[in-house]
Amino acid sequence: MTAGHPGSTRRALVTGATAGIGAAFARRLAADGADLVLVARTADRLAEVATELTDRYGHRVETIPADLSTVDGCAPVTRRLAAGPPVDLLVNNAGISLDRSFLRSSVEDEERLLRLNVHAVLRLTLAALGPMTERRHGAVINVSSVSGFGPVMPGSTYPASKAWVTSFSESVDLSVRPFGVRVMALCPGYTATGYHERNGIDMSGTPRWMWLRADDVVAEALRDLRKGKQVSVPDWKYKLAVAGLRHAPRRLLRLAYRDRRGRVGPADG
Ligand SMILES: NC(=O)c1ccc[n+]([C@@H]2O[C@H](COP(=O)([O-])OP(=O)(O)OC[C@H]3O[C@@H](n4cnc5c(N)ncnc54)[C@H](OP(=O)(O)O)[C@@H]3O)[C@@H](O)[C@H]2O)c1
Repeated sequence: MTAGHPGSTRRALVTGATAGIGAAFARRLAADGADLVLVARTADRLAEVATELTDRYGHRVETIPADLSTVDGCAPVTRRLAAGPPVDLLVNNAGISLDRSFLRSSVEDEERLLRLNVHAVLRLTLAALGPMTERRHGAVINVSSVSGFGPVMPGSTYPASKAWVTSFSESVDLSVRPFGVRVMALCPGYTATGYHERNGIDMSGTPRWMWLRADDVVAEALRDLRKGKQVSVPDWKYKLAVAGLRHAPRRLLRLAYRDRRGRVGPADG
């Protein structure tokens, strides 16, 4: 049995589980029969989501209110991963973007982004993999982004943080596979979650056809985990985009983004 199979996940820990892609993971995993440990900052919203899922699916749902952009906030989550009823799927989903170009940003905000998008992913992955490799069972899904494949968001730390998440996940996967454990990077494109509104990013110019549904992203991620993929890019449009970003000469990409110079509200995806 492997946690690469959704039906075999007995307990999953999902960060950023109260909205968007994280909430879609929580719903889908509960529907597939898993107990859950849910993490986000807002305790009231966490309690609401936990009650909704317990009422609907009857499984056990624990909650950990925590700000993962701080070392103190990561601590109770790493403790829970190391001890207590075993977690056999970790979904590192919580992540932020910023609403301004690098030149107009502050070092505090850029570092907060790195602490959540990079440091928390590193801490939680390490805490989860010890018990998983000992039990020779388990999986980690790190939510990255197609923006990590190229300079698609000029002047920001965000795509660099997601490039790290993808590369880190691929590398760690190689070292844990011999123990029957998996680490997969999930790289969605634009996904309709309210994320951009909450992060103050103007997406009014983005055509409707480019938007994915969070439930579809999660379904494809779990299928790809089951298939043993290291990197999951949901939807054919974004598979094509990633192929382009991976193989197009950087000079062409710079030309494509020339008209976006000076843009303040950069896009995720
Ligand atoms: N939406 C997209 O188009 C898109 C595309 C590619 C990749 N992604 C990636 O997908 C992931 C999820 O995005 P989403 O659109 O689903 O986000 P979202 O709808 O904004 O939800 C974010 C979730 O993370 C929690 N959260 C935020 N900051 C946190 C912190 N410091 N500590 C703990 N929890 C925190 C939020 O709850 P609280 O506010 O209560 O903490 C919420 O549950 C992110 O890593 C993002 O970079 C998104």
